[in-house]
Amino acid sequence: MSDGKIVAGFVAPHPPHLVYAENAPQNEPRSQGGWEPLRWAYEKARKSVEELKPDVLLVHSPHWMTLVGHHFLGVPHLRGKSVDPIFPNLFRYRFDMNVDVELAEECCAEARQAGLTAKMMRNPNFRVDYGTITTLHMIRPQWDIPVVGISANSSPYYLSTEAGVDQMERLGTATRRAIEKSGKRAVLLCSNTFSHYHFHEEPEIPEDMSCEHPQSYKGYKWDMRMIELMRRGEIREVMRLFPEWVEEAFAEVKSGAFPWMISAMQYPSIPAELHGYGTVIGTGNAVMEWRP
Ligand SMILES: [Fe+2]
Repeated sequence: MSDGKIVAGFVAPHPPHLVYAENAPQNEPRSQGGWEPLRWAYEKARKSVEELKPDVLLVHSPHWMTLVGHHFLGVPHLRGKSVDPIFPNLFRYRFDMNVDVELAEECCAEARQAGLTAKMMRNPNFRVDYGTITTLHMIRPQWDIPVVGISANSSPYYLSTEAGVDQMERLGTATRRAIEKSGKRAVLLCSNTFSHYHFHEEPEIPEDMSCEHPQSYKGYKWDMRMIELMRRGEIREVMRLFPEWVEEAFAEVKSGAFPWMISAMQYPSIPAELHGYGTVIGTGNAVMEWRP
């Protein structure tokens, strides 16, 4: 089979607060709501996914950290409980997901072909990280589309941002090749927050929105500058500024999901659609969509 394609790519951040706020049945803690504008942004993204009818969702998550190489979920069915180590009070989620192992293996093979260290994750009891789960839940709460989960190799932290970005871009190209060969319609999910300056104390009621605003004005300004460039389709300029953005806004995009996705979509010059922006404990989160 061939002529598979990437039908869309989303920036789809993973604050567990969003799952908590919507009182997802799989999550134990209960809330009184909160972070509505961001959750409404995800509602728009959910509609897009519904319309696009993809065969598979691929997600690159900063919270599945691997030191040696890029890893891919390689077990057909994964279930268990995932707990956010920072916010166990908000996120204790029973996950149950089907993995597209065939496509994951193809991505892994293409990554090796591209000279990267890559490996399949075959532990049947693997506890999937909260980043992967939150992004997938927020984009498709029905869990009825198979997924490919990709780890965040720590190269941007252990080597340098530039060396890390180079690896993620190669991983993106490899991912695109694998999708094309598969004949499948794929959606890419870049699971990360933009500015990552955050408050160090939680309000007594976590969802008390009177306490929610950008933690850093500098971080906020960077986010707006980058979102505006994305909305204008100036992705090359975004990538040129990428190391500076990462440095000055302490942006979580450093972990690689963003360059992975943008490279897989061949640096789309089409304008991105901003579904919404909001802060979570002061960090900047945008839900955005590209339809190549
Ligand atoms: Fe995160």
